[in-house]
Amino acid sequence: MADEPLVLGIETSCDETGVGIVRGHTLLADAVASSVDEHARFGGVVPEVASRAHLEAMVPTIQRALKDAGVAASDLDGIAVTAGPGLAGALLVGVSAAKAYAYALGKPLYGVNHLASHICVDQLEHGPLPEPTMALLVSGGHSSLLLSEDITSDVRPLGATIDDAAGEAFDKIARVLNLGFPGGPVIDRYAKEGDPSAIAFPRGLTGPRDPAYDFSFSGLKTSVARWIEAKRAAGEDVPVRDVSASFQEAVVDVLTRKAVRACKDEGVDHLMIGGGVAANSRLRALAQERCEKAGIRLRVPRPKLCTDNGAMVAALGAEMVARNRSASAWDLSADSSLPVTETHVPGHTHDHDHVHEVAKDNLYS
Ligand code: KG4
Ligand code: ZN
Repeated sequence: MADEPLVLGIETSCDETGVGIVRGHTLLADAVASSVDEHARFGGVVPEVASRAHLEAMVPTIQRALKDAGVAASDLDGIAVTAGPGLAGALLVGVSAAKAYAYALGKPLYGVNHLASHICVDQLEHGPLPEPTMALLVSGGHSSLLLSEDITSDVRPLGATIDDAAGEAFDKIARVLNLGFPGGPVIDRYAKEGDPSAIAFPRGLTGPRDPAYDFSFSGLKTSVARWIEAKRAAGEDVPVRDVSASFQEAVVDVLTRKAVRACKDEGVDHLMIGGGVAANSRLRALAQERCEKAGIRLRVPRPKLCTDNGAMVAALGAEMVARNRSASAWDLSADSSLPVTETHVPGHTHDHDHVHEVAKDNLYS
């Protein structure tokens, strides 16, 4: 439908420079330039390296997305950008680029929340999100259970990790096993050939008096690391496949158990899973199994849309336009700790329309 908003989204919260273009719920382009290889030798993302890589990749990635989508920048109805949460310097590159393009083109600017974007992206795959939506968001920086009545304005946290994020635990265990960075995909691969019940690792915060929707992976991480150290100290080989499978099972068991419980408690009959860890094959399979048993419909985007990308930002931006949410002001700033409840950032000044007129005059006179 031609009257659906055409929006370009820019994502630079971590190590992926993502530029996506959507028309309403339709994905037109999803260009990603990753600096992950530059961080691998450090075993984690180095913020300064990420910021520089974003700067270098930004313009070419925007040009590639426009070319892939077959649209002209002047046709866009808006430009959306991740305003937070994320690495401050990395976010700043995306926000600055989005402002420059929006200002030069005379288009509205939408600074949006990275976490809400991870949820909204599923509209590109499975159509409009049901309202309310229960979402399990699991990435390198976050693990949360979120209930959203309206993804553009109302996201309520039910629970979150009290220590490590799920993806962080995957990355740290992969490091202990010398499997490289990022750890999720490689542990996922090894686990396929291992026995998930070989080693009984602890399930954090699952006792009767523990908070129902919060997560903890720090105890699990220590337990796995100690188990590996003990093997090495005894001069024995570490069974990488069994350790991977048993560790992964402990993580996804807790994630799916708590998510299904939240759906039941809140009377929500479907579950959305997003964020980089949602690419995990065992998480997808176990969630499917448990949701089916509980009569809950599961929605998980394809793996490429689960990890950081620009299409998710464009998807949320398009929803902002469709629902007439106010655009961000030109003094929009990156907020590295933007709370999940702030789905978008209106900014401080309210002369948006005026500035647009000025921008247009400057461009076209
Ligand atoms: O959402 P994302 O791309 O970036 C953040 O916002 O953090 O998530 C990255 C995280 C990393 O920790 C990575 O190890 C994890 O997602 N990840 C996975 C898989 N693919 C990526 N974790 C488990 N299994 C996977 N297949
Ligand atoms: Zn993310």
